[in-house]
Amino acid sequence: MAVRKTNILDLGRMKVEGAKIVMITAYDALFARIFDDVGVDVILVGDSLGQVVLGHSSTLNVTMEDMVRHTEAAAQGRKRAFLIADMPFLSYQTGPSDAIRNAGRLLQAGAEAVKLEGGRNAAETIRAISSADIPVMGHIGLTPQSVHRMGGYRVQGKTDPQRERLLDDAAAVQEAGAFSVVLEGIPAALAEEITRALSIPTIGIGAGVGCDGQVLVMHDLLGLFDEFRPKFVKRFGELRKPVEDAVGAYAAAVRDGSFPGKEHSF
Ligand code: KIV
Repeated sequence: MAVRKTNILDLGRMKVEGAKIVMITAYDALFARIFDDVGVDVILVGDSLGQVVLGHSSTLNVTMEDMVRHTEAAAQGRKRAFLIADMPFLSYQTGPSDAIRNAGRLLQAGAEAVKLEGGRNAAETIRAISSADIPVMGHIGLTPQSVHRMGGYRVQGKTDPQRERLLDDAAAVQEAGAFSVVLEGIPAALAEEITRALSIPTIGIGAGVGCDGQVLVMHDLLGLFDEFRPKFVKRFGELRKPVEDAVGAYAAAVRDGSFPGKEHSF
């Protein structure tokens, strides 16, 4: 039976109907297939790739080549979920023609939309990419590519001027043509206010329950990533321990000669 693909119209409809949108990151075919089978709505090939897969300390080192390779891999695994790829640092800040070309490369790699960070300052870029018929998801609030400007990974929108700026950023992103926007690291009441003000779906991470959907990094929710644990992360599994136990058992069995047994030999 043909699989009914999720598309941007479905996501818009979910906001209208009040059905929460489930989004999760994946960076390869295996996990994209598992998450697709579970029935998540959206898979994001996030530039969190830099930290959770490639071992960097921020997302700033991630390149277009990294994103293309991992988008191609995730696209092989998903059948139904909507696939979004992050535009990495310097792939869109250098001007609209770079932005369109790089967004197009991610679509050619199998993504159905791209995500980029920024509010009013990114509106022209969002408009340019959208006018090339490439759907864009915005990302405002705590934007990890701006870690140095923010002075660290800090909750945004706690003061009145910041709150006004975020309301304006959200409106600018929608007005520029984004089909959805991620709200990261902002107070729950502000995220709810933005969600009510916008007609496009909001996806929260560290932004409370009032958003139209939620996203988490797969390694965080599965309990695989221990380097830091932001307050907004809920670990829905503790997979690091069973992985350590299994690999420890394998190492012990190799060392004591109990593996491979006759049943594993030809
Ligand atoms: O890179 C990423 O994984 C993200 C999500 C956390 C929103 O941008």
